[in-house]
Amino acid sequence: MRNSKIAGVGHYVPERVVTNQDLEKMMDTSDEWIVERTGIHTRHWITENDTLSGMAHKASNKALERAGKSAEDIDFIVFAALDGDHQFPGGGCFLQEKMGIPGVPALDIRNACSGFIYGLSVADQFIKTGKYQNILLVGAEVQSTSLDLSTEGRDVSVIFGDGAGAALITPAEDENKGVLTTHIYADGRFGDKLWVDAPSVNDQPRLTKELLDTRRIYPYMEGRFVFKHAVTRFPEVINEALEVAGLKAEDLDLVIPHQANKRITEAVAHKLGMGLDKVYSNIEKYGNTTAASIPIALSEVFEEGKLKENDLVCLASFGAGFTWGSALIRW
Ligand code: ACO
Repeated sequence: MRNSKIAGVGHYVPERVVTNQDLEKMMDTSDEWIVERTGIHTRHWITENDTLSGMAHKASNKALERAGKSAEDIDFIVFAALDGDHQFPGGGCFLQEKMGIPGVPALDIRNACSGFIYGLSVADQFIKTGKYQNILLVGAEVQSTSLDLSTEGRDVSVIFGDGAGAALITPAEDENKGVLTTHIYADGRFGDKLWVDAPSVNDQPRLTKELLDTRRIYPYMEGRFVFKHAVTRFPEVINEALEVAGLKAEDLDLVIPHQANKRITEAVAHKLGMGLDKVYSNIEKYGNTTAASIPIALSEVFEEGKLKENDLVCLASFGAGFTWGSALIRW
């Protein structure tokens, strides 16, 4: 069966840059604490000119342009985001409307930081079976409007940013190139270690005025617990992909991990025995943009001319669910 490949990538981040110094004015935190614990200096947050599907649209147009294709070529949309523009339907339909391609199926994926890898694994299967030829895969996220910007929410709020990344997935011409293997996992036992509890469909009524005064509406993260699992799962799932492909860590030209936290990225590089020059990081600029982080990084790597023909690249993720995954690509 034929492999799929990434034919074009693009990204978009909102113009509004929020520095650690800006956050110091909103809550009791410091540039020093944030940089030391996370590596983040700035993040981009949406303005009134941005929407989730609007950012996805801009990133998608860039990816199409770089692939030399137009919206009319797309035969399937896979849209990964924690939340849609609205409670329902999902963001994929609003992106499709903006792309002007009614009728094209749009699948929404809610696997948090692993959304893009889950989406790539789905897209890869549809290319393999021959069902679709040009799949628009998007990871987009608006985190900023969900955050508790008081001191109580500081452990989570300093980490997250907004943005979108997109990739056009097409059949690879060469059977030794493109997506060589994908691996996805989940462990729902830890769903409440990193989540937003409410509004929940199980609450009767779903929304009350009292709910707004509780912490249930804000993202909650058991930071150290998440950290420990992330630094185990990342290398594990990267090594699994390498093993299946009969390759070794030293064969890798580049690892693009989900940008969770600079310290997690460093720990992953260390466990793989790789230099930091081969493990991509842009969390300094964007913070953690969940589903958008891998495609934004991919797009930047492309713009910086760091991807060469035949390079071996591994994408890897870990996040809420817990979910994790990897995709090994011969460029
Ligand atoms: N500014 C200043 N102080 C803070 C802040 C902040 N933003 N946040 C927490 N603190 C304080 C705490 O209140 C605590 O103070 P205390 O000692 O007086 O009680 C102290 O700093 C240490 O808090 P910890 O939570 O123990 O800090 P830790 O060293 O664990 O760092 C962090 C927190 C950065 C969240 C860390 O646990 C981590 O990196 N976790 C990994 C999770 C992650 O990266 N998640 C990203 C999203 S999930 C994903 O994408 C995989």
